[in-house]
Amino acid sequence: MTDIQTVGVIGAGQMGAGIAQVAAQAGYDVILSDVDLPRAQKGRDGIIRLLARGVEKGKIAQIDADEAIARITPVGEIAPLSGAQLVIEAATEREDVKRAIFANVGPLLAADAILATNTSSIPITRLAQAAPDAGRFVGVHFFNPVPVMVLVEVIRGLATTPETVAAVEGFAGRIGKTVVQAFDAPGFVVNRILLPMLNEAVFVLGEGVGSVVDIDMGCKLGLNHPMGPLTLLDFVGLDTALEILNVFLSTTGDPKYRPAPLLVKYVEAGWYGRKTGRGFYDYSGAEPVPTR
Ligand code: 3HC
Repeated sequence: MTDIQTVGVIGAGQMGAGIAQVAAQAGYDVILSDVDLPRAQKGRDGIIRLLARGVEKGKIAQIDADEAIARITPVGEIAPLSGAQLVIEAATEREDVKRAIFANVGPLLAADAILATNTSSIPITRLAQAAPDAGRFVGVHFFNPVPVMVLVEVIRGLATTPETVAAVEGFAGRIGKTVVQAFDAPGFVVNRILLPMLNEAVFVLGEGVGSVVDIDMGCKLGLNHPMGPLTLLDFVGLDTALEILNVFLSTTGDPKYRPAPLLVKYVEAGWYGRKTGRGFYDYSGAEPVPTR
């Protein structure tokens, strides 16, 4: 079985940086790559801030934080990924972007290296066609925020070998995650259930059935969810949620996945949530302010 020592992460956004952090904290060497060095460094800077907060709170020892940070190498090109035994792609949730990455990175990898994708929704079997070896291609789906959320879904494409699945399950275990296995279907297990709920919350808002506060407080207090669906959408990114719903709609043809018109409008307006400073809440002040 592939002996994993170095993990490559493609995409230094919130998911990629989170994956890099937990891998480095578990003792793996990590190559954190993005389209240019400043973006990769920005991802590593965010990890440094989070680990510093962990040290302040007494959750992590300074030496462990320093060692984890030292294990992360930010890079602005793909060549250094050739040294990784496991490469996890966590780039934009767009099939053309992911396919281009696999076509470029795949040939650089060692014969027994594993190529994994953190896609939230795109079928693994289809994406595997852009990889050099579909047997060593697998879905590893993390949840946001990666350092806090314990679940990893492992998704086997039609050709993924049992050895590949075992290797990524071993990796997930070592970084402290619990695995559920999912068949290769749009959204796998968790997003298949989550996204229709988040989408419905936007229909409820758009139809004027409830305000942002009514909807979020209703779900928090009525369902015991840690955050309301509109807060969660701002957190995940409205652009990402829309991409996922569109993948569900196009791959199944089922109209139940039709994105709420207000979700489409917000994305058209560039109101993606926390990352752009505005979504269903305005984040420009000290506290988020509901916008409707
Ligand atoms: N990164 C790292 N750590 C974070 C964090 C972040 N972005 N946000 C919060 N934390 C940590 C805090 O430091 C704190 O750690 P501590 O207990 O060691 O001190 C802990 O999480 C709890 O944070 P807070 O006390 O500040 O706040 P909450 O108790 O409200 O918890 C939350 C925050 C964990 C984000 C909680 O609100 C939650 O669980 N929300 C739901 C998250 C969720 O559903 N995620 C899944 C999204 S779907 C997805 O990712 C799939 C994708 O494909 C779309």
